[in-house]
This record gives sequence, structure tokens and C-alpha cells, in this order.
Amino acid sequence: MSSLEEKYRLFEEKNKAAEIGGGEARVKKHHAAGKKTARERVQTLLDEGSFVEMDKLVKHHNHDFNMFENRPAGDGFITGYGKIDGRLVYVFAQDFTVFGGSLSRSNADKIIKIQDLAMKMGAPVIGLNDSGGARIQEGVRSLAGYADIFYRNVMASGVIPQISAILGPSAGGAVYSPALTDFILMVKETSYMFVTGPDVIKSVTHENVTKEELGGALTHNSKSGVAHFMADDDDQALMMIRELFSFIPSNNMEDPPEVPTMDSPDRVDENLQKIVPADPNKPYDIKEIIHSVADDNYFFEIMPHYAQNIVIGYVRMNGKTVGIVANQPAVLAGVLDINASVKAARFVRFCDAFNIPIVTFEDVPGFLPGTVQEYGGIIKHGAKLLYAFSEATVPKITLVTRKAYGGAYCVMSSKHIGSDVNFAYPTAEIAVMGPDGAVNILFKSKIEKEEDKKEYVDEYKKNFANPYRAATFGYIDEIILPRDTRRKLIQALEMTQNKSLSNPAKKHGNIPL
Ligand code: HXC
Repeated sequence: MSSLEEKYRLFEEKNKAAEIGGGEARVKKHHAAGKKTARERVQTLLDEGSFVEMDKLVKHHNHDFNMFENRPAGDGFITGYGKIDGRLVYVFAQDFTVFGGSLSRSNADKIIKIQDLAMKMGAPVIGLNDSGGARIQEGVRSLAGYADIFYRNVMASGVIPQISAILGPSAGGAVYSPALTDFILMVKETSYMFVTGPDVIKSVTHENVTKEELGGALTHNSKSGVAHFMADDDDQALMMIRELFSFIPSNNMEDPPEVPTMDSPDRVDENLQKIVPADPNKPYDIKEIIHSVADDNYFFEIMPHYAQNIVIGYVRMNGKTVGIVANQPAVLAGVLDINASVKAARFVRFCDAFNIPIVTFEDVPGFLPGTVQEYGGIIKHGAKLLYAFSEATVPKITLVTRKAYGGAYCVMSSKHIGSDVNFAYPTAEIAVMGPDGAVNILFKSKIEKEEDKKEYVDEYKKNFANPYRAATFGYIDEIILPRDTRRKLIQALEMTQNKSLSNPAKKHGNIPL
């Protein structure tokens, strides 16, 4: 029988062996590519000393391709739990140095175990992805592992936050687990996501495209809208996750954490008095208003490179997390198009699922006209935003800073689709359409020359291009001065903080997908 010493030595040996990953040479190559190892990433992400590893000794059970002769402990995935700012999170990290981080039946089961625990305990799952995809040698058992993970991603959606960092390759069906999660972060030049890679594309469509152009961080952050954040390196991506988590709750039964502030809720900002130009066709940067109303002027923007005609992200107001949705008059005059509608709709649904009040800043001339938009389905995509705002039961506060025209007035969290408090600046214009368009239609027969229009346009502006009509119907609760925006929004957020509202019971709605 072996001595106690021997038993403890074996324990040390097995643990150490599990920590070496794919060996020195592979780790060196990995570092040379500017990437941290899976273990280093987990340590960087979590509070120091908080990581508890699970299934460190799990091995694969595959006999094909002589695989049984090479069975590293852990099977290339690191899974477990730890803390971010003292709050529990579950984490998995794929180790590219072991079989290219590929997914086997065994390491799929490791992910599934922490997904199930996270659901029971009400804490987020953070995935650090760096993988060659399904482990080819395992065939359908690997695919089964993926599908089991996808299923849990869907079941967890709206119950616990799910965050995916793409820190290397993510190819084939493997992209669908991140796609089902709430937020995707990518790293410039070291990460990529695609369903089929450049070689397959070349043989099928004869297109020549590099990995980076096809599915790099910039592509998914600016063109496809698949990713939400872009980092310069692993460290920055991991710090972004920590910050993102500071704004959101651990599950759908909790409120987001509060961060006390010295910034007075009554702070006025005289600069805002001049923010909206007198000329309604002049652009301005809506982010100046967002920064101005935020605690310590801090705005954590989400998807800053995509559909910049709408701005989304988090601020804190008097210590509490608030989701911001804002038309951006500085980009395409703040028009609503397909990409902007989908970007904002998904954000509104996340906020609603996780008890985060929504403040909407509105300055929108309408939906973008044209065949590109119509053929692309602006009708159904615009309807997504309408649907998302309508079904959201969290506190909803809207401020019309300037234009609120046509269908876009209805969509952008109007009173009629359940907004709780609706403000407008004196510069607001709330009507079916802008003065020029309206006069062209209403007085077509009376206008012979361009000069004839002026009188009608002036009359229309006086009567309709203002917030006062809407206020006489109670569709705008209060017209406020820009300088008071922070105070007014915080008052409204306090007034609505105990809001209790349930939509009719149903299996689920049928959002126009
Ligand atoms: C098993 C794999 C692997 C995989 C990589 N490796 N991918 N082993 N299954 N899927 C191994 C390699 O054999 C190699 O082992 C090591 O990982 C590193 O890979 P390299 O090719 O040397 O690295 P690199 O040049 O950086 O290229 C990385 C890569 C490439 C671009 C990811 O390995 C690659 O194209 N892999 C296949 C990707 C893929 O098509 N996966 C299937 C996608 S479909 P050694 O021992 O030589 O170091 C899919 C279906 C999911 O995932 C379906 C869900 C529904």
C-alpha cells in the first residue's frame, strides 16, 4: 500500500500536469502571437485568488486516430467559478495549446456543468473562446456537445447574463454559442469569427477575402453588428468584461449593483442650453447630452462602431444603472434604418430582461427611405424596435430633444407604447412630418413657385413643429429646459423605481424576426 506521502505526491503531480497545457513550445508560440494562455486569461479576468477550478482532471475518452495515447488532464478547457468585484461568476476558457482548443465530448460536458450551476445559482457565464471548433477526431460526439451547449445558452437567455470573449479563432457552427449570448467582445488582429472560412468561400463563390476582412474584430464591430466591443489585446478585453459586469445584475431577479456617487443629482449644466442648434437641420452630438446627465459624466458605450446613427450603452444616474438609447443627429441626421433598429431593439430587450430602466433621447427625422432599406426589410426590422419598446416593462423615460416625426415618433418609446415619463425640450418638433414635406403635400395645388412655400412653411412650423401640441394632449408630460436634464431624469427615475407591470401571460410573443 502506498504511503501518505506518495498519495499527496500523486495529487501534486496530477494537478501540476493539468496546468501545463499543450507544453512549453506551444505556449511560446501562443504568447508570440500576442495571446495570453487560457489560465492567464482566467487569472486576469477574476479577482485575485478567487478562481476555483472544476473538472481539472477530466480527460477525453476517444480511441479513434490513436487519440487515447494523448489524454492531457483537463482536455484543453479550463472551467470553474470565481469573483469579479466580489460577485460570483462562472467562467470557461479554451486552451488553444491543447488540440487547438477543440471541443470534445468531455470538455463540452465541463462547460455544460458550469452552465447548469450558473442557472441554479443565478450568476453569469463568461466564455473565453479560442478554439479550432469541433474536435474532428470525435465526430458527432463533438457536435452533440456543441448542441447541448447551444440549448443551455438559449435556456439561460434572459435568466443570467452570458458574455463571450472571442480571443482566437471561432469557426463553423462554433460561432453560434457566442451568437446566442448577450455580449460578444473581440480582439483586434487575433480573433475571428465566421461560419465558413476564406478557403471554402473561394471554392464556392470565387471571392478572395482574408480571415481578418471576413471575420476580424473590426468587421464584426463595424459591418456585421455581430460583436459589441473591440479590444486592442486580451488584457483590454478582459477589463472590458469586468466593467460591463459592473453595470448589470447577476440574474433576472436582481437589480444592477449600485455605485454611490458624489455627483449631485441636482447638477445643472448651462452648456446644454446651447446644445441643440437653432437651425433644425444642423447636426449636434447627442453624446454630449448623455455625458452631461451621467454620474461623473461617464458613459459606457456598447457597439460604438456599428450603426452610429443610434447610440446605446450604460450610464449611472444617482448611482443606479440606466440603459441609454439615443438617436444620433450627428450621423445620418439620426435616421432610423435597419441596422439601427436591430441594434437598439436587442439592447432594449436585454435591459428589460435584467431590470435596467431605459432613458431614450429622441431626435429622429423618420425611417430611412429607399429601395435598399425596403428590400432589406425595414418594415420588419423597424417593427423589432417597436416591439421591444412596447413589451419592455422596466421604467421607460423619453426626452425629445428635437425631431420626433412620423412612425419614428411612435417607435422611439412614445407615451402610447408604454413610456412612463415623456419630456421634451422647447426645441422639440413633434408632428407627422417635417415642414417642407408637409407643405408640399397639403398645398401642392397652391404652390406655383418656390417662394410661395415660405408662408405655408412658417405657418406649419408655428403650429406643428413644436412640442406644445403634443403637450396639450398629455403625450408630453413636461417641457423642460436643457440645463435641468439630469435633475429631471433622476426625478423621473426615482418616481418610477418601484414600477410593477406585467404583460399578458403567454408562452412567448412573436417578435418579427
Ligand atoms: C482537432 C484541431 C482542430 C480541430 C485545430 N486543431 N483545430 N484538432 N480538431 N477542430 C489542432 C491542430 O491539428 C494542431 O495540432 C493544433 O490544433 C493547432 O492548429 P494549427 O492548425 O497548427 O494552428 P493555426 O495554424 O493557428 O490554425 C488554427 C485554425 C486551424 C485556423 C483554427 O487549426 C483550423 O482551420 N482548424 C480547423 C477549424 C475547423 O474547420 N473546425 C471545424 C469547424 S466546424 P498539432 O498537434 O499539430 O499542434 C465546427 C462545427 C461545430 O466547429 C458545429 C456546431 C453545430
